[in-house]
Amino acid sequence: MNNFSHLLLQWYQQHQRNLPWRNQTDPYKIWISEIILQQTRVEQGKEYYLRFIQRFPDVMSLASAQEDEVLKYWQGLGYYTRARNLHSGAKYIADRFNGKIPADYDDILKIKGVGNYTAAAIASIAFNLPYAAIDGNAYRVLSRVFDVNLPVDSQKGKIFFAELAQQVLDTRHAGSFNQAMMDFGSLQCKPVNMDCENCCMANICLANKNHTQHSLPIKQKSIQIKKRFFYYLCICQDDHIYLQKRLPKDIWAGLYEFPLIESETELSWEQIMNTPYFSHVLSHCLFTLEHISPVYKHQLTHRLVMGQFFYIKLHQGAPQWPPEVQTISKDLLFSYPISRLMETGLGNMPSFHTDQ
Ligand code: ADE
Repeated sequence: MNNFSHLLLQWYQQHQRNLPWRNQTDPYKIWISEIILQQTRVEQGKEYYLRFIQRFPDVMSLASAQEDEVLKYWQGLGYYTRARNLHSGAKYIADRFNGKIPADYDDILKIKGVGNYTAAAIASIAFNLPYAAIDGNAYRVLSRVFDVNLPVDSQKGKIFFAELAQQVLDTRHAGSFNQAMMDFGSLQCKPVNMDCENCCMANICLANKNHTQHSLPIKQKSIQIKKRFFYYLCICQDDHIYLQKRLPKDIWAGLYEFPLIESETELSWEQIMNTPYFSHVLSHCLFTLEHISPVYKHQLTHRLVMGQFFYIKLHQGAPQWPPEVQTISKDLLFSYPISRLMETGLGNMPSFHTDQ
């Protein structure tokens, strides 16, 4: 075994985190945990994992669930495509493999939402297959220990790090090696404020020797963030309210929300009232604007959503909604899967009194 692997596994024996998906090798549970942890911090992921596994303890229970319920269990975690992919992945494994996740890297890679990293994590942790799982932690640790200044998001960099990781992987303990890399990256070799003086790798770490650790890993492009403005119309009539389901291929697909006017630029209430959508929907209605929420910022990877809620009370007339808008009782609002932004909007909803 190489020196790096030896030190890493030794460190892991002493410092590994006690996490609910560890100390077991059920590939289903490892799959769920890895998908949750793709874009979620471990601390937040733990609770969601436990609730999810309690309700959907195996492939079959997930495969036979309704999508709305799966999304409800995902509510608040963001990146909802992950939940939809898990659901269709479970159906695929149920149909194709009788509900048993196959012990083969290439077969695992065919599951929807499973990329190289996740397939390697499942294959190594559940089946001890010799695949290095390379996530942000691994890029950071490897780029520092071996002082590599190739951008980790370049094609060349990805190939280089994949080969390096595969070379240093301890194939007899692939699962532990990969998890050790995750923990070492999170706890010791942190993005900033790393403690190189008290590090088991200090003597072999080339970045430590060359004082380059603070500028590693290198990334070639900083992401361009675009703004989207969502103006939600929370229209209340007696004890009911209007909701629609978000369409596929966009953020929050499948989640429910108030009808909205979307814009690439900021709009005032006057401008919103003058949009063709608003004028059409409420053309024959008598209404009052009860409250305007602050603008809530919701940061996504490539987008900044600026959300604002207009709480409108309808006194007379029926809105002319497009067919996707549903009328629901206000009491049922919380049973629908909704985004974190919608939750905030609902939390600040004024109580509407019926005055007719
Ligand atoms: N991040 C991604 N997968 C993880 C795992 N299995 N343990 C800890 N952190 C992780």
